[in-house]
Amino acid sequence: MLHWIVCPTREAQAKACAAVLAAQVLQKPDSVLGLATGSTPLAIYREMIALQNEGVVNFSNVRTFNLDEYIGLSHDHPQSYRSFMETNLFVELGLRSEQTHVPDGMAEDLSAECAAYEQAIEQAGGIDLQLLGIGHDGHIAFNEPAEAFTRTVFVATLTAATISANQRFFARPEDVPRTALSMGVGSIMRANRILLSAFGRDKAEIVRDAFTGPVTPQISASILQFHPDCTIVLDEEAASAL
Ligand code: PGA
Repeated sequence: MLHWIVCPTREAQAKACAAVLAAQVLQKPDSVLGLATGSTPLAIYREMIALQNEGVVNFSNVRTFNLDEYIGLSHDHPQSYRSFMETNLFVELGLRSEQTHVPDGMAEDLSAECAAYEQAIEQAGGIDLQLLGIGHDGHIAFNEPAEAFTRTVFVATLTAATISANQRFFARPEDVPRTALSMGVGSIMRANRILLSAFGRDKAEIVRDAFTGPVTPQISASILQFHPDCTIVLDEEAASAL
């Protein structure tokens, strides 16, 4: 079931997403939150930090699981998703490393790491609320266009388009990792609630195709049409092709 929220501006869109996360944590302070990296969550994380600093909500008892991590980057590498989360959210919210989970892209046995990450989510009781962005090709986490939906955490190969989109964070194109550990579509669908955030004119067509078109692994976000509780928060630009 899709719930739509369309906000007049990008700023309001980020505030609305932070409000959904805050409401979840006000009702269940030790919520398990699924978190994301990229440009989309940045303003949301700033708003969450502001809400905590204003005393509206206390995020310090949550547990978190990130969607993905590059293979071959250590957690202290500046472009690792662990570093992104520490810098943009975890330190400011006062979250200790044992509360927060990001797959280990340096694991020697990658398939064991995939299984352990999936199991850790289950042992935490599952994800209460999963924050997602959407890629221009409709990917959620690193679920690129494919012949079938992935079930569990897996080793993902990035497409040329995603490598090129992610180049902006690296000094040289050849520095962008080609593979990542990623939650599968099944891992994401097992979250109790989903919050998908998108803003900007460049996301308008994929938002339309993913959520009003056929459900297909060629657009992995489209499966959220079958999720029982998925809230899509857009600014007017991202909603402009609906
Ligand atoms: P972005 O990425 O937030 O940097 O646009 C979205 C995604 O790839 O999920």
